[in-house]
Amino acid sequence: MSNDRDRHDGDGDHELRVSKIRDGTVIDHVRGGQALNVLAILGIDGSEGEELSIGVNVPSDRLARKDIVKVEDRELSQDEVDVLSLIAPDATINIVRDYDVVEKHRVERPDVVEGVLSCPNPGCITTGNEPVTSRFTVLEDGVRCSYCETIVRDEIASLIDT
Ligand code: CTP
Ligand code: ZN
Repeated sequence: MSNDRDRHDGDGDHELRVSKIRDGTVIDHVRGGQALNVLAILGIDGSEGEELSIGVNVPSDRLARKDIVKVEDRELSQDEVDVLSLIAPDATINIVRDYDVVEKHRVERPDVVEGVLSCPNPGCITTGNEPVTSRFTVLEDGVRCSYCETIVRDEIASLIDT
């Protein structure tokens, strides 16, 4: 990678803000200000002794400001990556083993997410006692409940079932 690029990147060699990890997952290029929501999605708050490093609103060349979340000894499930993609559409997931990045992929926005978000509409069939699994269609700028058509744009992280 070019030195020029590293110099401008908040997590580059010249300006390392968050230490490298040995084994685990680096969620990079998270939209500025979303790191804590990323942790909420993963259900991680450090209370179980998880080793975490977080950079919030660090300068980046791809995004004006980015967040970065590093979790030691943890890989992510497809469901977790799907929900992450809703709040961090430009994120890169890097799997690190013995200090090397052994896998890197961009998150992909799914067309539909099932069973991971709960509908904010109290009258929705998915929020009552019926055994109906939640289902949302992913839109350009939000999600839409497949049952009651409620659209959520800004507070998607608050709908996450934990
Ligand atoms: N990283 C880390 N610990 C390691 C290796 C990498 O925390 N042992 C982090 C880097 O700091 C970087 C991310 O994982 O934030 C991806 O690393 P790398 O692929 O080496 O960086 P870039 O080439 O800059 O990544 P990209 O092209 O995705 O921006
Ligand atoms: Zn609904």
